[in-house]
Amino acid sequence: MRTAFPTTSRSGLVIWFTGLSGAGKTTLARALATVLQEAGYPVEQLDGDIVREHLSKGLGFSREDRDTNIRRIGFVANLLAKHGVIVLVSAISPYRATRTEVLAAAPRKLEVFVEAPLEVLIQRDVKGLYAKALRGEIAQFTGISDPYEPPLNPDLHLRTDQMTLRACLDQLLVALERLDITVRRR
Ligand code: ADX
Repeated sequence: MRTAFPTTSRSGLVIWFTGLSGAGKTTLARALATVLQEAGYPVEQLDGDIVREHLSKGLGFSREDRDTNIRRIGFVANLLAKHGVIVLVSAISPYRATRTEVLAAAPRKLEVFVEAPLEVLIQRDVKGLYAKALRGEIAQFTGISDPYEPPLNPDLHLRTDQMTLRACLDQLLVALERLDITVRRR
């Protein structure tokens, strides 16, 4: 049964998952969203792949277009967070300055760097995009032929090649507890 949502106005928060394609941003955001929803919090997810089909349809992968994409996501995320929603963003968001800019406008934020070594991502290649990028069939592919600037001081750094999903989730929940967002641990 769903519990009543505890603290509507205070819970607003942007949790921003940044990292290379295939690192695990969406998987982690989905798992965390489920746990938070079950605990009764209002949650919304903004995923790069999905946003690009709607809000950012037509944008490409130049620096300018990526920054536009991130600013749009940040704008919506911050609006929702101001109204008490916990917003989970998963987008490569490769440029440090742009991430910093949008997160500076969040009422509260948690920047999560989701990382696995490039060799691991190339091996995982869930979407088959690394193989294409390595063959030169996709231009400006992040990590292969386009830059990624890791956060210098993320609130959380999760190595998905070294930790299980459960362990990553536990670290996220500990970080959220510090922000007074609590769920009953299973
Ligand atoms: S961002 O750079 O603007 O933050 P975003 O997270 O929205 O990127 O979208 C990344 C997704 O687009 C990847 O997970 C992948 O599925 C797809 N994609 C297609 N082309 C590229 C590319 N050149 N670089 C990175 N991702 C790409």
